[in-house]
Amino acid sequence: MNRKGADVDRRYMRDKSQVPPKPVVRLGLAILRGVNWIQNSIVPAPMRIADLSFGGYTLSEVVRTAAALGIADKLAQGPMTAEALADDIGADPERLFRLMRFATVHGIFKISRASRRQQGPATTLFANNALSACLREDHPNSQKHLILAVVGKQHLSAGWQELEWGIRTKGRIFEKVYGEAFFERCANDMAIEDTYSKGMSALDHTCGNTILQDYAWGKYAHYVDIAGAYGSFIAELLKANPKSTGVLFDQSQVIHRARKVWQEDASRLALAGRISFVAGDFFKPETLPCAQSKKTAWILRQICHDWPDEETVRILSSIRAAMEPHPQECTLCLVEAVITSKGEPTADVRDRARTASDLHMMIQHDGKERDALQWADILSKAGFKLTKIVSTRSVFSIVEASPVPITSSMAVMDATQAA
Ligand SMILES: C[S@@+](CC[C@H](N)C(=O)[O-])C[C@H]1O[C@@H](n2cnc3c(N)ncnc32)[C@H](O)[C@@H]1O
Repeated sequence: MNRKGADVDRRYMRDKSQVPPKPVVRLGLAILRGVNWIQNSIVPAPMRIADLSFGGYTLSEVVRTAAALGIADKLAQGPMTAEALADDIGADPERLFRLMRFATVHGIFKISRASRRQQGPATTLFANNALSACLREDHPNSQKHLILAVVGKQHLSAGWQELEWGIRTKGRIFEKVYGEAFFERCANDMAIEDTYSKGMSALDHTCGNTILQDYAWGKYAHYVDIAGAYGSFIAELLKANPKSTGVLFDQSQVIHRARKVWQEDASRLALAGRISFVAGDFFKPETLPCAQSKKTAWILRQICHDWPDEETVRILSSIRAAMEPHPQECTLCLVEAVITSKGEPTADVRDRARTASDLHMMIQHDGKERDALQWADILSKAGFKLTKIVSTRSVFSIVEASPVPITSSMAVMDATQAA
């Protein structure tokens, strides 16, 4: 370890979340497509398909394990051998060495040049690189909690073992494996829910804050963040738009912890006069924040994809009802991974991530990612008209919709659902 105890990862600890301008992204993707083609040309098909099936879940589990063991945090002070690391975290040195060797082969962590000649648990020095630094708890773009929340066996990963069953039967996979629905499990286990809420905050840094930059949020005076977890997104909106106000809405136990998170963070404390916290259930319009007579964005980031179509229509109908008596001031903004892929093979990480998220949602919630046509249909059933879909440089798009006048048939539908 570095004697001065200085953070040797300094150069990897800068904010790396900025996505380059669109033309640069387009050029990069064209080159990646070429690289993909070359890889498929030089690796025989049987070897490639075996690698894809074997390598995929192996890599995922290795990254999760490294995050859970806190290896990147330990390496912050300098390169360490597997033996020293194992001693520090209470692990077996030989197995830890093998885990780290696999990770470095995949470009996560690196082996310090000085120790490349003599490989072994006692001699090889492992260090952080740009990717592994993002597993550090204190990295400005830390992905640690997102990975623990999404890949962790407490949350999702065991569900993948039942994908075949789920595809055959259309049954609810998460309930089969864990014995209860995901949000019930969260409500019954604070630690699981806390990891999940922290993981959602890390989402801001996964997508390079492009959700904030690539949509004209400044046209609104007020933001209502429905099911905003600990409020990382609305905090950034309020910082970027100093005259605006906002409401963070979520379930009562989540709001209770969100208040604490805001009290402990100086940059959020500074927003105290412009934010209010409301606890409730988005299936019950009477518990939602009151509509105000100023331009308001009703934001649902990563919410609808958690629910099947019928429940999504119920949530959005409930929000439509809460927009009264000021619907003309209200815009619905859904931040979702809108499916655009026509199924061609692609090197675009965003298309891959959207279709992967679709399967995650299938397993975790019986939810789904949707394409533009599916959004138009859902929105019209809930009392909205799709106005536009604004793509960002990240995985996410903003699905923008305006409320349409509530007809008597909708009122009847609401009453039936409430009964
Ligand atoms: C995928 S997280 C989204 C978090 C947040 N929007 C973000 O992007 O960071 C789903 C959120 O839905 C909330 N939720 C689930 N059921 C709810 C309900 N019936 N009423 C209100 N919120 C609910 C959860 O507490 C959780 O914070």
